[in-house]
Amino acid sequence: QVVPTYLLRVRTCLRGGRASPACRIAERERGMNRKYRKTLIAGNWKMNKTPTQTKAFMTELKGLLPKGRWCDIALCVPAVCIPAAVRAMRETRVAIGAENCSAHTAGAYTGEIAADMLVDAGCKYVILGHSERRAMGETDADVNAKLHTALDAGLIPIVCCGETLAQRESGVTEEWITMQIKLALAGVPEEKIRRIVIAYEPIWAIGTGETATPEQAEEVCQHIRTIIRKRFGSKNARAMTILYGGSMNEKNAFELLAQPDIDGGLIGGASLVPEKFVRIIEDANQPVG
Ligand code: 13P
Repeated sequence: QVVPTYLLRVRTCLRGGRASPACRIAERERGMNRKYRKTLIAGNWKMNKTPTQTKAFMTELKGLLPKGRWCDIALCVPAVCIPAAVRAMRETRVAIGAENCSAHTAGAYTGEIAADMLVDAGCKYVILGHSERRAMGETDADVNAKLHTALDAGLIPIVCCGETLAQRESGVTEEWITMQIKLALAGVPEEKIRRIVIAYEPIWAIGTGETATPEQAEEVCQHIRTIIRKRFGSKNARAMTILYGGSMNEKNAFELLAQPDIDGGLIGGASLVPEKFVRIIEDANQPVG
């Protein structure tokens, strides 16, 4: 049975019998936006789980997945877990993704994995420019090169951006995000921009349990959409899926996902537990105006 989950969500949104003003506005705008772009709930497992554990997780997840199709679902897993994940989720709506790919198509790059290898293994998505990879030395130029390779191979890149706490406190968040997005998307032709997903992941909120408030997250996601609008036009900006990531969990997802410019989540820790991940998927079933 397809439970009209949104009714349950509306109830959680009620404050003393009335929806809060912020909630009502978010609902209305959400309803308008929903028509134009996809909601995506994506997990990023980082360096967690073995292939055996992947199989067990997927079996459990299959039993919990809601029947309704209000959002796309993806799990980006360690490279060695991709075959097990793809096999387990073949008959489901859960797409599998990778956490990185090479900027090169083939050759003498020991330890690297090419985008078309990921496609052949059954991946649909690839996370690029995660702050944890940037901390290992990945540059904006690397992210841009990988983005082009991923697009050419037919993958959907999930491009990450986000500021440090020091940058936020210095008031340079917008400038920093603008720079990261512009450099990551350099040379992307207009007809390809809709194949890209952007994830805003404030570094200070990753794995810390500290989440950006819905307002903070919305402000930056809205800013990202403005950057896209200026560079790729309003139709593309309206169609762009922008995710929030950074300690999104089953407790805070509903309010974050209610924001008009937040079209989904990129979830680390909470995507490792089937019940929590499913709760977030359910929270993406927002009331549409
Ligand atoms: P957490 O959800 O564990 O904070 O991780 C967020 C993240 O980095 C997703 O890519």
